[in-house]
Amino acid sequence: MIANGRDASVPWWRSGVVYQIYPWSFQDTTGDGVGDIPGILSRLDHLVALGVDAVWLSPVYVSPMADFGYDVADYCDVDPRFGTLSDLDRLIEALHARGMKLILDFVPNHTSDRHPWFLESASSRTNPKADWYIWHDPAPDGGPPNNWRSMFGGIGWEWSAARGQWYYHAFLKEQPDLNWRNPAVVAAMHDVLRFWLKRGVDGFRVDVIWHLLKDPDFRDNPPNPDWTPDEPEVRHILQIMTCDQPGVIDLVKGFRKVIDEFPDKLMIGELYLTIERMCAYYGEDLDGAHLPFNFHLLMDPWKAETVGWLIEEYERRLPPGAWPNWVLGNHDNARVVSRLGAAQARVAAMFLLTARGTPTLFQGDEIGLSNGVIPPDRIRDPQEKNEPGLPDHNRDIARTPMQWDASPFAGFSTVEPWLPLVPGWESVNVAVEAADPASMLTLHRRLLKLRRAHEALSIGDVRVLVAAGDLLAFERRHGDERFVIVLNLGSDLIETSIPEASGGQIVLSSKGGRDGEIVGARLMLAGDDGVVISLA
Ligand code: NOJ
Repeated sequence: MIANGRDASVPWWRSGVVYQIYPWSFQDTTGDGVGDIPGILSRLDHLVALGVDAVWLSPVYVSPMADFGYDVADYCDVDPRFGTLSDLDRLIEALHARGMKLILDFVPNHTSDRHPWFLESASSRTNPKADWYIWHDPAPDGGPPNNWRSMFGGIGWEWSAARGQWYYHAFLKEQPDLNWRNPAVVAAMHDVLRFWLKRGVDGFRVDVIWHLLKDPDFRDNPPNPDWTPDEPEVRHILQIMTCDQPGVIDLVKGFRKVIDEFPDKLMIGELYLTIERMCAYYGEDLDGAHLPFNFHLLMDPWKAETVGWLIEEYERRLPPGAWPNWVLGNHDNARVVSRLGAAQARVAAMFLLTARGTPTLFQGDEIGLSNGVIPPDRIRDPQEKNEPGLPDHNRDIARTPMQWDASPFAGFSTVEPWLPLVPGWESVNVAVEAADPASMLTLHRRLLKLRRAHEALSIGDVRVLVAAGDLLAFERRHGDERFVIVLNLGSDLIETSIPEASGGQIVLSSKGGRDGEIVGARLMLAGDDGVVISLA
C-alpha cells in the first residue's frame, strides 16, 4: 500500500532519508549566537520543502559542553542553552504533525565528569557507584596503568587523588568512560532510553557504539607501523584492546531489546570500521542496530572503482534481510564541498540520494556549505585545541551556522554567531538557492522528490554496471521500475555506452539541462556530471 509516497509495509527508516541537525548551529532565537530548539521549530518548513523523513538531533542534554554536548551531565533533561524539556516535547509533536520522526543522540560510552554518577564514583573506593567507571590502580612506577591513549590526544588516563586511582577516558578527561561490564550501568542507561521512548522519540543514533567495552585485562594496545606525522597521535597505536571488543554486540542487542519494547523505532550505531566488522553490528539475527553507520564515503577515496567495490562488498557482507545506509558528511568531518569541490559534490549528492540504503544528510550540505574558515582566536573544538594544525582535524570547520538568507548573520542569529559564517554566505544560503533552479538546494530537493516518488530508488535492488576510470554506473530496480544512474567522478568528458540505459530517458542531471533527453547507444557525460535515467 502506498501512503504519503511510501509503502506502509516497509519500515519508515528503510525508505526514508535522515537529516542531521547540529543544534549549536541551526537557528538561534535567543540572541546568544547559539542555536536552540525553538529555532529548530521555526525552521521546519525547510525540512518539509527539502523532503526529508527524520531528524537526527545531535545532543541537547544538560552539559558543560567540554565536547559540545557529547559530555552529558543529565541524560533526561535539556540544556538551558537549547531550551527546555517542553520545547523538546513540542519538537517531537511538531515533527510528527508533519509526518517526520525525531532521532536523539544517545551517548552511552562516557558521561561528563560533572555527572552526579561520576562525582559519586570519584568520591571514594567504597561508594555505591564505585564501580560505575573504569578505575585502575597505578602501574608500579605510580604512572598510568597502560598505554591507552585519548582519541583527542595525550594519555587516556586521569589521576583521581580522592581514590588514589586512575580513570580511563577514550575522549577528553572531562568525559570519563562508563564501565559497561557493570549491570547497574546497563540498567540505568536502559532506563534513559525508556525515558525518551515514552516521550515519543522515534529512535537513537548511538555515539561511538564500538567503544563501549575495553579489554578486561587492560593489556597495552600494539603500535601502529603505518602511522604518519600528519595523523593524530592516537593513531600511534592500534585500538585493538579499546574498540570493537568481544561482547560489545551483546550490549547493542540489549539496547535493541529496549527499543523494541516500543513499535517502529530505529537504532543507528556510530562506528568507523571495515565493512565486514560494521556488518557484525546488525546482529546475526538482525537483533543489533538497524543501521550501523556506513562511513566509507568519508573514509575511502572518492574513486569510481572504490565506490563500485564498496557497493558490492557491502551487498556481499550484509546479513540476509539487513538494510544498508550511506553518509557523506557529519559534524566530525570536513565538508563534502571542500573535500571534492563544488561540482563534484553535486555528483556525490546524486550518489547519496540514489544509492541503495538510507541516506543521512548533514545540515548545510544541501546548500553546498564549504568548510568554515576559523581564525585561531575563535577555535572551539577541543580536538583541535589539544592537537593543533593537523589537516582537516578542526571539527569547527563543519559546524559553522546554517545560512538561511542574506540578512545580517545569514538569518541564523541577531548577533555574531559562536562560529563564523562561511565567506560568501550572502549567496550560499537557503533563500537565494530556493529561487535558483540550478542551485545545490534545488538539486537536493529534486533528488529527494524523485527518491520519494519511485520505489526503485528508495527500496529497490542495486547492481553495479561499470566502476572504472572516472565512470560509475549502477542500476536500481523494483517491480517494473528501473533506473540507471551514471556518474562522472572526474572532470573530463566521458563518452561511453551503457547498454542497460539505452532507450531510457534522463530525468535529472547534476549539472542540469538534460531533462527529457533519450539515451542512445552512446552516452556523453561532461566532467563532474551525473544523470538519473528512467527506464520504466
Ligand atoms: C562521536 C561524536 O560524533 C563526536 O562529536 C564526539 O566528540 C565523540 N563521539 C565523543 O562523544
